[in-house]
Amino acid sequence: MHRERIRQPSLLDKVVSAEEAAAHIRDGMTVGMSGFTRAGEAKAVPMALAQRAKTEPLKITLITGASLGNDLDKQLAEAHVLARRIPFQSDPALRKAINAGEVMFVDQHLSETVEMLRTRQLGPVDVAVIEAVAITEQGGIIPTTSVGNSASFAILAEKVIVEINLSQPTLLEGLHDIYIPTRRPVRHPIPVVAPENRVGLPFIPVDPGKIAAIVVTSKLDSSSTVLPPDAETRAIAGHLTELLKREVKLGRLTDTLQPLQAGIGTIANAVMHGLIDSPFRNLTMYSEVLQDSTFDLFDAGKLDFASGSSITLSQAKYQAVLPELARYKPRLVLRPQEISNHPEVIRRLGVIAVNTALEFDIYGNINSTHVGGTQMMNGIGGSGDFARNAFLSIFVTKSVAKGGAISSVVPMVSHVDHTEHDVDIVVTEQGLADLRGLAPRERAKLIIANCAHPDYRDALADYFERALARGGHTPHVIEEALGWHAALRERGTMRRG
Ligand code: COA
Repeated sequence: MHRERIRQPSLLDKVVSAEEAAAHIRDGMTVGMSGFTRAGEAKAVPMALAQRAKTEPLKITLITGASLGNDLDKQLAEAHVLARRIPFQSDPALRKAINAGEVMFVDQHLSETVEMLRTRQLGPVDVAVIEAVAITEQGGIIPTTSVGNSASFAILAEKVIVEINLSQPTLLEGLHDIYIPTRRPVRHPIPVVAPENRVGLPFIPVDPGKIAAIVVTSKLDSSSTVLPPDAETRAIAGHLTELLKREVKLGRLTDTLQPLQAGIGTIANAVMHGLIDSPFRNLTMYSEVLQDSTFDLFDAGKLDFASGSSITLSQAKYQAVLPELARYKPRLVLRPQEISNHPEVIRRLGVIAVNTALEFDIYGNINSTHVGGTQMMNGIGGSGDFARNAFLSIFVTKSVAKGGAISSVVPMVSHVDHTEHDVDIVVTEQGLADLRGLAPRERAKLIIANCAHPDYRDALADYFERALARGGHTPHVIEEALGWHAALRERGTMRRG
C-alpha cells in the first residue's frame, strides 16, 4: 500500500526500518522533526532513537513545531536523548527534566524558529524527520495533520527522513498551503489578505536526492487532553461575548467580528465553544491549533473558514471529523507556523486573539509559562506572536487555582511573558477588565474590582492602597510585591493568616 503513496518511483528503494533510518542521526546532531500540539509528529524514528540511547551515548538538539504526541517527549526525555529542546513542549516528564536543569529548553515565539534557522542564528539542521501522507511524483512531501516548521526543516536540512503514515487519510492532500517567505533584504509582503487565501504549494518542495530514508508507519496521532467547558469557563466565555457585542454596538466590529485566534488548552477551547450561542455569524479563524471548538462552530453554522497550523482533537471529535473530512476540507487550510503566526498577517487581518494566562498582575502583565516564577509549564507558544499584533489582545484565566490556594490575580507577576503594553482585556469567571486607554493606576482598580476572586479582593485592594502611598507611575510595595508567591512556597497557599 505504501507504493501508492510514494509516487516518485526512484524513492521506493529508500524504504527502510525505523532503526536504519534513525542511524542517520548521530550524537550531537540538530534534528528538526514534524509535530505541532500532538498532531502530525514523526512517530517511529524518535522511538528508535529512545531505544538506541539505552545502549550508546546519544544526545541531540531537538527542534519541532510545538509539542509532540504519543508520549514521545516523555520517552526521549526519560532516555536522556534531549540535550536541548526548542521551541515548545507540554509533557510532564520533559517538564521535570527541564526544571531539573537536565534539558536546556529554549522557550521561543513559534513564528521565529525558522527565521533563526534560515539566517543561521540557530542550527544548522542536520536531519529533518517529517511525517507525510504521501510523496508526489516530483518528490514533494505532503504533510499530515500539522505543518508546523516541517517545510523549512526539510528545505534547510542536509538529509530528510520521511515517515509515510498509512493511517493518515490521503484526503489530507490538498489541505496544506506551503508558503516560504523570500529571503531578506528583498523580502516581499506575504500575500495573505484573508484567512481563506491560498498562496503557496500543497506540498513541501524538496530535492528528492536529499531524501535519505523512508519509514512506513501506521500509529495514529494522540488525542488532545482538553476538558469540556465547566461553569467557570462558561462564565469567562459569557463575559467575552458581552464585550464583543458591545464592540459591535459601538460600531468597532460588525457581527461577523474579525478573524479569531484561540490559544491551546481547556480554557481557550471553552471560550471558543461559547461563541456557538452568540449572535455572531459567518465567523473566520486565523489561528494556530484548530481544536474541537473549531469543528463545533462549523457544525453550528457559525464558522465559515478556519486557517491554522495543526488539527488537534479529542478522541470523540477525531472519530466524528475524520469520516467527514471531505465536507470540512474546503473550509480549512493548514499553513507553516511561520505564516499562521506571522506578525505581518496578524496585524493586517486585525485578529481577535484569546490566550490563557497562569496569572496576571494588577497592572495587566501576564505570566503564561512559569509556575511560581521558576517552574516551566509549557512555554509561550504562539501567544506572544498574536498578543502583540492583534486587533484585540485578550487573556483569560480562572481567578483561582489549586482549590483556591492560588490567586491568579497577584500584585506582581512572578515571570513576565506578555507585558502590559501587549494586553487589552483580561477576563476571569468573576468578570472582565477592559484596559484599553487606561494608565496603570486606573487598570489596577478595574482588575481588582472585576477580575479578582472575592477571597483575595480585599488583600489586593489593601496592597494597592499601600502601594499608592509610595507613589510612582506603576505603584508597588517593592519588598512585598512577590510576597504572595513566597507565601505559596513557604505555606502552600497565598491566603493570609
Ligand atoms: N499557578 C499555578 N498553577 C496554575 C495557575 C497558577 N496561577 N493557574 C493554573 N494553574 C495550573 C492548573 O491548576 C492546572 O494544573 P493541573 O494540570 O495540575 O490541573 C494547569 O495549570 C492548567 O490550567 P488549566 O486551568 O487547566 O488551563 P489550560 O489547560 O487552559 O492551560 C496554560 C493554561 C496557561 C498552562 C496554557 O494555556 C499554556 O500553556 N499557555 C501558554 C502557551 C499559549 O498560550 N499558547 C497559545 C498559542 S497556541
